[in-house]
Amino acid sequence: MPELLRAESISKRYGGVYALQGAGLSVAEGEIHALLGENGAGKSTLAKIIAGSVRPDSGRIFFRGAPVSIRNPRDAQRLGIGIIYQELDLFPNLTIGENIVIGNRSFQEKGFVDFARIEFFCGPVLDRVGLGRGARELVASLPIGQAQLVALARALSMDARLILMDEPTSALSDDAAARLFDVIGALKRSGVSIVYVSHKMDEIFRICDRATVLRDGRVIATEEVAHTTPEALIRLMVGRELSTTGDRLSSPVNFPAPLLSVSHLTTRKLRDVTFDLHPGEVLGVAGLVGAGRSELGAALFGLDRIRGGEIRVRGAAAHPRSPAAAMRLGIGLLPEDRKLEGLMMDMSVAENTTIAASRGLIRRTREEAAIEPLYARLALRSPSWSAPVSALSGGNQQKALLARWLLVNPDIVFLDDPARGIDVGAKQDIYRIIGELAAAGKGVLLASSELPELLRCSHRILVLNEGRMAAMFDAAEATQEKIMAAASGAVAHDR
Ligand SMILES: Nc1ncnc2c1ncn2[C@@H]1O[C@H](COP(=O)(O)OP(=O)(O)OP(=O)(O)O)[C@@H](O)[C@H]1O
Ligand SMILES: [Mg+2]
Repeated sequence: MPELLRAESISKRYGGVYALQGAGLSVAEGEIHALLGENGAGKSTLAKIIAGSVRPDSGRIFFRGAPVSIRNPRDAQRLGIGIIYQELDLFPNLTIGENIVIGNRSFQEKGFVDFARIEFFCGPVLDRVGLGRGARELVASLPIGQAQLVALARALSMDARLILMDEPTSALSDDAAARLFDVIGALKRSGVSIVYVSHKMDEIFRICDRATVLRDGRVIATEEVAHTTPEALIRLMVGRELSTTGDRLSSPVNFPAPLLSVSHLTTRKLRDVTFDLHPGEVLGVAGLVGAGRSELGAALFGLDRIRGGEIRVRGAAAHPRSPAAAMRLGIGLLPEDRKLEGLMMDMSVAENTTIAASRGLIRRTREEAAIEPLYARLALRSPSWSAPVSALSGGNQQKALLARWLLVNPDIVFLDDPARGIDVGAKQDIYRIIGELAAAGKGVLLASSELPELLRCSHRILVLNEGRMAAMFDAAEATQEKIMAAASGAVAHDR
């Protein structure tokens, strides 16, 4: 296949840190090209440079053999280059349709907002990605998985010849991801090229033709996917041998009295949810996008009004009406959307870590002494602890958010997709930390769209379907098939 795009000798420095040092990439027409590397390796920076949203310090880009200058996203769009950013760039207060048409060269703007035309334009692409929401709904009302689909619809609507996808499935459930792969397959057949950034090896091996591995801003290798193995790619990424298979937690432990009892919990989204969480237990929370996983976290953390049912903490009735009240009850929440609900992007890494634990000056200094070893434990990579958190790579931002809760150390913690955007090596560290929390007698709720992760880390798995409990499995009896069947509503609501 002829070459569509080539980037050569691309360098980009932020202060004293090289994000890229002479990196390059060659993408053929109709090729799906994986871009791999550990957190902070430079993947997003390279994608942004090709999409015109970051200017390189040096380097050259060729499109169909001719040198091009991509100074801004409009230049990229003109060449037919679209991007789905890792940290989505949608406007929450605008509708889905407006987000798709703004700055979109394929849509002729008329100087006023014509919703009927916007709907007409967006309908086909929204159908194609399977969003199942109208163009007039606000983006702010969408869970992040659906917002990801809006970003995908936007990229598709631009008739791009090359689409850069930066961790597009990080917040998608398996069914939405499967649909994305169908869309990618159709794009490939029509000759569109895709640069696919992901930490998920199974995806790379399912859809990609070649893979380029970055380490510390340099290209380590480009491999034919058909002629390599996940282990070989991981070795190239991390520069050492790494075992990615861990033992599952053994069958249910004999738990003492529950730490948290939820009975008949009903909110805007949830209906009649009942379960116990014991000290030392990791309770997995599974379900498709929109099933109510995140809403369960929101209800426990005082972010959502409780309409019915009861929450008890150590046997006493508890009313988490606000995050502050939830924290006083010893409940913490690592939110799914780190950008909207979690991190203060302009504040420093250290401030973001200590913000929840801080109460007064004396404790603050003690906390600052505690953060260094915490960052080491998480292998968090940052230019400095006083750098704004926005300067961290996506995976390292996620680690900063996790560090916050490790510092607060609540008895009950709801982790909503904690390994989202985390590289394969660091993932093992996070699983280890979840195990350590449980071993220390904490109660952990682990919501995840990755079933292997749930199976690996949980003692029991609660499956939600449309806000209701579809099943509760012991780790020993759970399988991906059983969880999927329950999550998709194929099992009667009998509990
Ligand atoms: N705006 C910025 N200011 C300062 N440093 C930055 C900025 N953006 C990126 N960096 C740094 O550049 C390096 C590469 O970051 P990049 O986001 O490209 O990594 P990545 O490979 O996409 O990682 P991840 O898997 O975590 O998303 C990191 O060290 C990061 O801290
Ligand atoms: Mg990135």
